[in-house]
Amino acid sequence: MEIIHVSAECYPVAKAGGLGDVVGALPKYQKDLGHVAKVVMPMYRTKFLRDNQFEVVHKGYTHLNDYWFNYTVIKETTNKLGFDLYLVDIYGLLDREKIYGYGDDTERFFAFQIAVVDWLAAWKHHPDVIHVHDHHCALIPFMVKYCYAYRQLQNIATVLTIHNGQYQGQTGMDKTVYIPDYDLYKRGLLEWGGALNPLACGIRSAWKVTTVSPTYMEEMRHSSMGLEPLFEYEKGKTSGILNGIDTVVWDPATDRYIEDHYDITSFAEGKQRNKAKLCERYNLDIRKPLITFIGRLVGDKGADLLPQVIEDSFYYIGRKMNFMILGSGLPEIEGRLQGIRHLSRGDYNTYIGYDEALSHLIYAGADFILMPSRVEPCGLNQLYALRYGTVPVVRNTGGLHDTVIDYGDPGGYGIRFLHASVQDMTHGVWRSVELFNQQEMMGEIRQRMMQLDFSWEASVRAYVDLYERAKRGE
Ligand code: ADP
Ligand code: GLC
Repeated sequence: MEIIHVSAECYPVAKAGGLGDVVGALPKYQKDLGHVAKVVMPMYRTKFLRDNQFEVVHKGYTHLNDYWFNYTVIKETTNKLGFDLYLVDIYGLLDREKIYGYGDDTERFFAFQIAVVDWLAAWKHHPDVIHVHDHHCALIPFMVKYCYAYRQLQNIATVLTIHNGQYQGQTGMDKTVYIPDYDLYKRGLLEWGGALNPLACGIRSAWKVTTVSPTYMEEMRHSSMGLEPLFEYEKGKTSGILNGIDTVVWDPATDRYIEDHYDITSFAEGKQRNKAKLCERYNLDIRKPLITFIGRLVGDKGADLLPQVIEDSFYYIGRKMNFMILGSGLPEIEGRLQGIRHLSRGDYNTYIGYDEALSHLIYAGADFILMPSRVEPCGLNQLYALRYGTVPVVRNTGGLHDTVIDYGDPGGYGIRFLHASVQDMTHGVWRSVELFNQQEMMGEIRQRMMQLDFSWEASVRAYVDLYERAKRGE
């Protein structure tokens, strides 16, 4: 089977979060199962572009309403990622350093999607499945089905994976003029709640829709920023497939970002050496448990609660632990995390920014990783942490519910709490300190975690099965 993934992110080309990790890994594992998997994404001006070789495979000319533009599709020539990678360049729109965050993101991603579909229509060779990810690419199932110019693509199965339903890409209905001429009877599919909603349109137009964990799919039916009835109505074609992790990139025995490697037989010394590096670099106390957070500093991740949790932990539990926070996001959260630096007595530090290498060192050197997410469609941090023998302390939601069992329950290994509140999280910190002080149990739990298998194999089979069912019309 041949699958073409369309995404705004793909590691190591461009990554802002877990979407990049997933799209950088899933095609590799699909290939391992004997399928042909490719990725097409925008050609941002990232380091990857400067450091690698490409050839031009297509040049096209198309339009966003009355704005006509040239686009170029280039292909990476050395199979660096383990699958074919295509980048779409559109002068003036995609040729920027960052992935998102520009005032004209709607125009950028609409133009990208139009260029992708235009290119696929010009290509004589058609894939079996077009698999699109998140709202930036969610108009493609509609376009291949209902735009007159792309009718030759309408028999290709389309699958939409929702990595985060909080972001739907809503914009004014006036922007429907951007969509190439389509069957006007279908205009209703573009609209949801009075706005042009790309994610809602994708849910209605794709042949199959998935979320990145089963529990998150359940949650979407009850709470999905206005899409609840849609999830209920489209129930028949939706399912939750848990993400896996790239066990080559994320392996403490070979990780290219860390110097002190370890595995299940040597984790005690290995983790200690990585912890020593972190503690030295960030002025922390190696004798105390190291509790960390890595991620986007936004409300969905519960990052706004961190400063108060750190203050309360020091005050109520005592100076029995270290905190190290790596993240970037909302300026007010960044500011508050920096603002409480004065509290540190060699037991708190933060690095505000995005640093892939530091994240690997933290997974390797930390004892605990906090994930107080209000919303977590899957979450990869806890899966990386498990593989690196770092205990996840998580709110019981979405993919965290599906992957972390509390160590108080049979077969458990993590710490779970119920509410995204300062109190519940501080209690999680207290339990972490208690667990850390029972060294034998801590060692057993680390061993148990490192043996867990969250590799892609099972999920890849679930995706292939889904593609096959889509093609059979089931
Ligand atoms: P999301 O995609 O919602 O941000 P995930 O848990 O799926 O959450 O994935 C987050 C990914 O981004 C992980 O690979 C994590 O290590 C990485 N990450 C997040 N913030 C940073 C940061 N500031 N520096 C380095 N890596 C980060
Ligand atoms: C999103 C979600 C995260 C998930 C990731 C990869 O960014 O917020 O939970 O792990 O996508 O699917």
